[in-house]
Amino acid sequence: MSRLKLAVLGSGAGSNMQSIVDAIERGELDAEIALVVADFPDAKILDRGRKHGIESVYLDCAPYKTKLEGPAEDKLVEMLKSRGVDTVVLAGFMRIVKPKLLAAFPNRVINIHPALLPAFPGVHSWTQALDYGCKVAGVTVHFVDAGTDSGPIIVQKCVKVEEDDTPETLHARIQVQEHIAYPEALRIIASGDYTIEGRRVRIGKAS
Ligand code: GAR
Repeated sequence: MSRLKLAVLGSGAGSNMQSIVDAIERGELDAEIALVVADFPDAKILDRGRKHGIESVYLDCAPYKTKLEGPAEDKLVEMLKSRGVDTVVLAGFMRIVKPKLLAAFPNRVINIHPALLPAFPGVHSWTQALDYGCKVAGVTVHFVDAGTDSGPIIVQKCVKVEEDDTPETLHARIQVQEHIAYPEALRIIASGDYTIEGRRVRIGKAS
């Protein structure tokens, strides 16, 4: 067991960050959030972080629109290292992260994706699942690798698709499961009781 020192990166509302804060405050996750980072200056995730007394900063990721690379990536890695962060949590961070960040935190960058991967990587996954006619949808928490939404899976949760679901109602129910799944995945990482064997994360098998 080790107390995690987290940085949470997001682009929007920050409800997943909130679920992690809540789990910590309830004593259900042995972690601290050292830093919150957003790529939009008015992202609500920054307000949430500040409300909880967490250093919360805007990172200008120009000139790129969809990836984190170049000067912003350099600056982020420096910020994370200087604060002693050991685990980087992507919580609605809508950019592709690149090898420099991944190399600085090997197997320590985690992402949440609103689909049962490997189905529906990318954006608006809940709409993709609905349009495809899926009867179940869900959420995946996974280690980040060099691909898009492709790293080893830590936790998945299913959500039944209802006949009258809209993208909004389905996403709302997926989010309820996200808020359970992310603290659960981080508890596994904090426990240290797992091994990564190829694509498989074996939990409770560390010797
Ligand atoms: C969540 O549904 C998360 O799964 C999704 O963005 C939302 C962020 O919500 N992430 C992705 O789509 C990543 N490809 P939040 O800001 O309230 O945590």
